[in-house]
Formats: sequence, C-alpha cells, structure tokens
Amino acid sequence: MDEKTNKSNELKLFLCLGVAAVATGALAVMNNNAGRAANPHPVAEAGTESSAPALVTNVVAPIIAEGGTGITVTKASDWEAQYPNEFSTYAKNSENEEHHSYIEAHPYIATLYSGYGFAIQYESARGHTFVVDDVTSTGRPHKLANCFTCKTSDFTAKALNDGDSAYSMAFEDMEAQITDPFGCFHCHQNEPGTLYVTHTYLANALADDIDSQNAQTLSCAQCHSEYYFDPETKATTLGYVGLENATPEKILDYYNNLKDAEGNPYADWVDETTGVRKLKTQHPEFETISAAGGIHPDMSCVTCHMGTAVAEDGTTFTNHYWSSPLDNPDVLESCNACHGDLTATVEAIHEEIMGRCNSIGEELAKANEDLAAAVAAGTLSEEDLAKARDLARSAQWYWDFVFVENGKGVHNKTLATDCLDKAEQYLGELNGVLGA
Ligand code: HEC
Ligand code: HEC
Ligand code: HEC
Ligand code: HEC
Repeated sequence: MDEKTNKSNELKLFLCLGVAAVATGALAVMNNNAGRAANPHPVAEAGTESSAPALVTNVVAPIIAEGGTGITVTKASDWEAQYPNEFSTYAKNSENEEHHSYIEAHPYIATLYSGYGFAIQYESARGHTFVVDDVTSTGRPHKLANCFTCKTSDFTAKALNDGDSAYSMAFEDMEAQITDPFGCFHCHQNEPGTLYVTHTYLANALADDIDSQNAQTLSCAQCHSEYYFDPETKATTLGYVGLENATPEKILDYYNNLKDAEGNPYADWVDETTGVRKLKTQHPEFETISAAGGIHPDMSCVTCHMGTAVAEDGTTFTNHYWSSPLDNPDVLESCNACHGDLTATVEAIHEEIMGRCNSIGEELAKANEDLAAAVAAGTLSEEDLAKARDLARSAQWYWDFVFVENGKGVHNKTLATDCLDKAEQYLGELNGVLGA
C-alpha cells in the first residue's frame, strides 16, 4: 500500500467512461489583460505579520466565451517567456504524480460499480498536467471525444468552434489532434489573466445565476462539477438549470424525470446482475460548495487551492500549482492564523466522514449482492423488485455524492452528513424489502 498521505490517497476524479450510451456580491471590477483585478477583497487581516502573503479573494465578474469558427489555442508552453511565474507554477503540477487504485483500497466498489468501467479501473487523481495521459491509458472502454471535455484545450476550442457535434467525434480522431493538455485556454482563452468560462455547458446550467458567481470559482467549476452525457447528442451536460437546482436531491429528481423512449429514468449504466439503473456521481465540488452552502462563502476555490505567491524578484502572482491548501505553505499559514491547526481539523473530518462512507458502502455492496441473488432466484414480486431497484439507485447516488467529492466532507460537512443519512435510510428500506 502506498502510504503517501491519507488525503491524496483518497482523491477521486474525472474518469471518463466514454461509454457511448453513456462569491456572490458586488461584481464591480472586471479583470483585464494587464493582470489582477483592481479590487482585492481581503478576507482576513491574518498573516500580515508573517512573510506569507495575506489571504486574498478577488471577486471577478464572469465572461462567457463566445462560440464561432476559427478559434485557435495558444499553447501553455508558448506563454512561458511572457508569464514565467504563472508558467513555472503550472509546470510544477507534473511533480504531483502519485496515484493509486481505488479498487484495491476499497474492494467493495467493484460490486457497486459492477458492469461499468469504474469497476475495471479507477485511479486517484493527480496533477492537472497528467489528465490526457490518464484518460488515454485507462483500462476502461472509451469511445467518444466527449471524454476529452475536461482534459485538453484543443477539445474545448473544438466544442466552441463546432458546437455539440464535437462531443460525438471518435475518441481516436480527437486524440490525434491534441497539442495542449490542460492548457491556459480553459480558464483564460488566449488572454492570460482574464478569466473566461470556455466550457459553455456550465453557463447553460447556471443560466442567469452565473452573474452571482465569482469567475475564480467558475474557472474550476468548468470541470469540478457533476455531469452526464446527453443520451441524444452525447454532449457534456450538467444535471440542473439554475443554482438552486444543483443540490443532490434536485439533481437526482432531474435524472429520475429524464425518461428514455421506454419510460425508464436516465441511467449511466444498468447493472445486469440486479437490473438497477445506476447513476455515477462525479466530482461535485462546485455543487457541494456553491449550491449547498459549503465552507467560507466569502472565499473562492482559488483562495484555498491556488493562493498568492511572491517571486524571488518580489512580484506577487497567483500560484498556478493546484493543490491541497495543506500542501501550500503560504495558504496554510494564512488559514492557521485563525484555525491554529487546520491540518488536524481536516484529518478529523476525513476520518469521521470517510469512515462512515466506507462502512455504508460495504453494507450497500452486501445489499447489492443480496438483490442479485434474489433476482437470480426469482424470489421477489414485480412490485418489490421495482421498489428494491429504485431504493438501491437512490442509496448509491447519495453515498457516491460523498465518496467522489474530493473534499471528503471538508467542503461541506453538513451536506456530507445529510447525504450519508439519506444513503443509510434508503439502504435500510432496501434491506427491509430484501428481508435482510
Ligand atoms: C479542464 C478541466 C479542469 C479545470 C478547469 C480544473 N480542473 Fe482540477 N482537475 C481536473 C482533472 C481532470 C483532475 C484529475 C487529474 C488526474 O488525475 O489526471 C483534477 C485534479 C485537481 C486537483 C487534485 C490534484 C491532486 O493532487 O491529485 C486539484 C486540487 C484541483 N484539480 C483543483 C482545481 C482548481 C482549484 C481549479 C480552478 C482554479 C481546477 N482544478 C480547474 C480538471 C480540471
Ligand atoms: C484552472 C484555471 C486556470 C488555468 C488553467 C490557468 N490559469 Fe492563470 N489564473 C487563474 C486564476 C483563477 C487567476 C486569478 C485571476 C484573478 O483573480 O483575477 C489567474 C491569473 C493569471 C494571471 C494574472 C496575474 C496573476 O498571476 O494573478 C496570468 C498572467 C495568468 N493567470 C497566466 C496563466 C498562464 C500563462 C496559464 C497557462 C500556463 C494559466 N494562467 C492557466 C486560473 C487559471
Ligand atoms: C475555504 C477553503 C476551500 C475552498 C473555498 C474550496 N476548497 Fe477544496 N479543499 C479545501 C480543503 C481544506 C481540502 C482538503 C485538503 C486535503 O485533504 O488535503 C480541499 C480538498 C479539495 C480537493 C482535493 C485536493 C487534495 O489534494 O486532496 C479538490 C480537488 C478541491 N478541494 C477542489 C475545490 C474546488 C473545485 C473548489 C471550488 C468549487 C474548492 N475546492 C473550494 C479547502 C477549500
Ligand atoms: C478570519 C478567520 C479565518 C480564516 C483566515 C480562515 N478560516 Fe476557516 N473557518 C473560520 C471559522 C470562524 C469557521 C467556522 C468554524 C466552525 O464552524 O467550527 C471556519 C470553518 C472552516 C472549515 C470547516 C470546519 C468544520 O469543522 O466543518 C474549514 C475546512 C475551513 N474553515 C478551512 C479554511 C481554509 C482552507 C482557510 C485558508 C484558506 C481558512 N479556513 C481560513 C475562520 C477562518
């Protein structure tokens, strides 16, 4: 077992299945090409006595990239000379290369994801610069270009140029066109320093609510959010319209009401052993924090996961090494001005939430096996079978909303607890139907 750290050992992210079936407040100041917004919004005076830069959250108004034709990508490496500090911290993401198998760490998930690619291979996340390598080398089947949605700016530009038809291109055809894995383009288009929403499905999902969001957070929400592939167009789509509909309950309702021609609710896949129409929750960091009332609404993802750094020549810049705040000494020092020992707080939340998550997951896997046995033996009535399948679907959705959320309870302990309570409740009802 690799024992690097508890925290990075538990990351779950962005594993595209490629199965074809499958800050609110005043946004007064627009960022400009020259660099930082002129309206830094200091969250705390903390840290001013130390050498660490103060914790700063810029509130930046969103700009949605326009689609069209002829949009090209300036590669990350082409910006190195002009923006050496941003580029060198971006390049440092390649040092964050450790990852490991979740299936080995949590064998019960092979049952819960049975019949789906995640039961074959499911690796923890690592640095952004590995995203293309990780999606092309996965043992899971992938068929379409939509798998590259959160992996390469070349695909982002293609979707802006070609619209939804880009998503249903063959995977290999898109792979051959990649020049810039995880580029500056995702967040800046070709104007480093200005924040653009280039993944337009996020803008579609937020609709009018987008203007209430800090563009810093939106730059991450482009990928760190729960999505599905539209069954018709194969386009990457978020399961809600409007921020108030981005909660676990409302997203489940959305999928339940999205019916196929036979009247069945949307499923990412159907587990053949049980007939359960399953959903795969994916990295719902944005929803957990911004829709469901997570920690520090006065801060953005960037405050905690990028932060401000000072170069040797005294230049202050935004750190482009995307990491845990616990691994960023400047950020951590600012947090600890209030928290004292944030690391201990984070570890305590992880232990509590993931401890519960794993024990519920194991019981849910057992219930899945019991249901498969009942299906094989034909012991349940039609009505009980339908009820059991629906309960298993709901229980797994709420369990997975916690299991795959990368904060592991830290971003919103109340929500994580609530989801686990719901998973437990559905599991109890399922066991009731199964007579277990
Ligand atoms: C274009 C899509 C995309 C955008 C935009 C994006 N991420 Fe990610 N992020 C990913 C993917 C994919 C991974 C998993 C990488 C892997 O394991 O190959 C990841 C992983 C991470 C990790 C974990 C790295 C580790 O140590 O394992 C952190 C932290 C992170 N992202 C933070 C952010 C923050 C903060 C933002 C916004 C400023 C952001 N990301 C924007 C796609 C994205
Ligand atoms: C995942 C999103 C993301 C990616 C990818 C990204 N940036 Fe940034 N960048 C940000 C954010 C967030 C800020 C802070 C903007 C603000 O507060 O107005 C920023 C700020 C900047 C600034 C303004 C000066 C500063 O440091 O604050 C420059 C220049 C910049 N980035 C260059 C780059 C370059 C060059 C690349 C590629 C090598 C890149 N960025 C990739 C999110 C990103
Ligand atoms: C108030 C600070 C704060 C904000 C805001 C915040 N996070 Fe986090 N995030 C944390 C902490 C603390 C952890 C736990 C880190 C650990 O386990 O080492 C974490 C963990 C993560 C991880 C796993 C990183 C790792 O190395 O374990 C990812 C990915 C992530 N957050 C993404 C986001 C995204 C995306 C947003 C915005 C939608 C966001 N976070 C907003 C504090 C924050
Ligand atoms: C100005 C003081 C202050 C600063 C600076 C600060 N926090 Fe907090 N933080 C708080 C307070 C107050 C709470 C609420 C405490 C509670 O509910 O127990 C809190 C809650 C949290 C929680 C949730 C704890 C829990 O028990 O659920 C996390 C995680 C967190 N902060 C992370 C961070 C991170 C990461 C930073 C640095 C980027 C940071 N905080 C900076 C004051 C601060």
